[in-house]
Amino acid sequence: MFTTKLFILLSVAVAVTFAVPQMTGGVSPVEDLTEVEQEVKNSLSKLDAGDGPHYKLSKVYKASRQVVEGVLTKIEADIIDEEEKTQKCNITIWSRPWLDNGIEVTFECEGKPTLTKHHSA
Ligand SMILES: *[C@@H]1O[C@H](CO)[C@@H](O)[C@H](O)[C@H]1NC(C)=O
Repeated sequence: MFTTKLFILLSVAVAVTFAVPQMTGGVSPVEDLTEVEQEVKNSLSKLDAGDGPHYKLSKVYKASRQVVEGVLTKIEADIIDEEEKTQKCNITIWSRPWLDNGIEVTFECEGKPTLTKHHSA
């Protein structure tokens, strides 16, 4: 009897231990790109109101999300840069709204150095 209980307890402990790494979710594509567009536009306007970059969103091609201490959204998009040129960029938004300036935005645009900025939620 006691052994059975102990066995169950151990099984639960093992199951919990192995379940924890899965808190970091897999990468899944985002179906609703309008929602992503809103997120990108919101980030761009916050950065534009701050110290830049002063980009506008032109088009979102695709996006994926992953849960990692917040939500990591990767976006392939066209942006309009400060010289009014349309550019292909990979934008990563790491959203941790419980932190000060908890939104981290990384721009990887063709022919430009990678740029990482933070803004408030
Ligand atoms: C964006 O990411 C894709 C896939 O990882 C890559 O093939 C492409 O070169 C990247 N584009 C830029 C502008 O960094």
